[in-house]
Amino acid sequence: MEIFISQQELADIVQELGAQISRDYAGKRLLLVGVLKGAFVFLADLARALTIPCEVDFVTASSYRDGTLPGAFEILQDLSSSLQDYDVLVVDDILDSGNTLSVMLEHMKSKNPRSLELCALLDKPSRRVVPVQAKYVGRQIPDAFVVGYGLDYAQQYRHLPHIAVLTDENN
Ligand code: IMP
Ligand code: MG
Repeated sequence: MEIFISQQELADIVQELGAQISRDYAGKRLLLVGVLKGAFVFLADLARALTIPCEVDFVTASSYRDGTLPGAFEILQDLSSSLQDYDVLVVDDILDSGNTLSVMLEHMKSKNPRSLELCALLDKPSRRVVPVQAKYVGRQIPDAFVVGYGLDYAQQYRHLPHIAVLTDENN
């Protein structure tokens, strides 16, 4: 397996995002909402790269891949019903087709947060089907299947400290 983004590069990316978010959310009531499972490593590091207070929560979405209708999307573990006192930043591992996050964002909007933005560690813009944009993106990548740092292939590789490209010899 080829290392695509090293542990040091990830640390630098997260540090930069943390600094940017800390500036933008100074004086606000920041709630980081991680999308499980993929966001667990990134969110843990991002929260510790902030220099401002924040609260942390998680949502779990049922996973579906290409070919499944957005209607099949299901939130398996939700947040409290109102987010009106919070500036919500949804944190996810990767923005791919945009299906998951567009439904997730609509769902969050219905809880009336003070503000709502998206932070994705990785972004594959060439794969987008639904027009979702993240205000904060760690790194744009080409259309390759990547694993590690929370990202999985069939639930494997989430624990890798770097991002690797999964090639055919691995599966
Ligand atoms: P979307 O709804 O197509 O944007 O799917 C996003 C989700 O698909 C991510 O949160 C990941 O769980 C998964 N995913 C997309 N691309 C990759 C990848 O390259 N490696 C691992 N998981 C991926
Ligand atoms: Mg995910």
